[in-house]
Amino acid sequence: MLEPLRTPPRPVSALTRGIDLVTQDLEQVERALGRLLESTVAILPQISNHLVEAGGKRLRPLLTLLAAAAADARGDHAITVAAVGELIHTATLLHDDVVDTGEFRRGRPSARLHFGNGLAVLAGDFCLARALEAIASTRDPEVVARLAATVTRMAEGEIAQLANAGATLDRSGYYTIIDGKTATLFAWCAAVGGLATPALDGPLTDFGRELGYAFQIADDVLDYTASADTSGKTPARDLRDGKITLPLLLACEADPKLAPVVRDALDEGPPLGEAVVERILARVAATDALAASSRIAERHAAAAIAHLDALPASPARAALIDLAKAAARRSR
Ligand code: IPE
Ligand code: IPE
Ligand code: MG
Ligand code: MG
Repeated sequence: MLEPLRTPPRPVSALTRGIDLVTQDLEQVERALGRLLESTVAILPQISNHLVEAGGKRLRPLLTLLAAAAADARGDHAITVAAVGELIHTATLLHDDVVDTGEFRRGRPSARLHFGNGLAVLAGDFCLARALEAIASTRDPEVVARLAATVTRMAEGEIAQLANAGATLDRSGYYTIIDGKTATLFAWCAAVGGLATPALDGPLTDFGRELGYAFQIADDVLDYTASADTSGKTPARDLRDGKITLPLLLACEADPKLAPVVRDALDEGPPLGEAVVERILARVAATDALAASSRIAERHAAAAIAHLDALPASPARAALIDLAKAAARRSR
């Protein structure tokens, strides 16, 4: 039986200014999330709460709430969109850890290890369905259609990544994957699910997409650099799973002898053996690829921030700028 655990969300300290602006809204989102995870089938809230109560950074709700404040779109619908963004994220994490054989998530054994793959996948489906049900409460068909399209793109991104695992990839293939699996949801969250005024919808969507690239590239760097204690996830999971991410792409460009080592390892796996993983990690670390990837993440953050010129100056806009910078520079 799962022990009761009420670890609060783990906000990012660089974002204190922004969190302070929307503290009460964030609390409402937490309450909404709790309600959305309720079910008469008792195991369902247990599985989803295993993940939700373990914390996480809650960046997507923060993004939505700050964007709503910056674009004059605050209100009950914005709270719903913020909760739905986190719920969609929850669903993808439940699914992603099955697909990526993730062992740790938010510092705990992943839901699939705790409950088994089948229940983890079905609980993810439940979260997705609940999210669609919740967004339907806005009674705005455009808003519902936009979420459905977002979820479709996310599924395409994850499937493209899985279908490519063990195969070589180029930068354009890499961007197709991260655009679908990560940036699309950030774009939706930043546009407050389509509730921002038409004049601000485009800039906020573009802001969210660039922020999503910065965020995922930083995540892909952390897979190479962060300890399990810091990230709450298993280090070098991507490489072991045969997933080629930007740091490895850049390392292969910088070190021509690395590309054949990677190709041979991929021919054998995935999963890649420990010895070859260690060899590749050492060669990647010997290049400038990790720092170069971080610089690219910074460039996406800067591009994101430039889109905010379309918004009137406000404390919320300043907090969105902090958020973009923190996404590129994050340590967890
Ligand atoms: C993890 O997202 C999945 C990615 C898109 C890289 P987060 O890093 O936002 O995970 P939590 O919510 O803080 O655990
Ligand atoms: C994010 O990619 C995928 C999702 C959108 C869930 P990752 O596979 O890199 O995410 P982590 O590293 O497992 O959190
Ligand atoms: Mg993963
Ligand atoms: Mg990752």
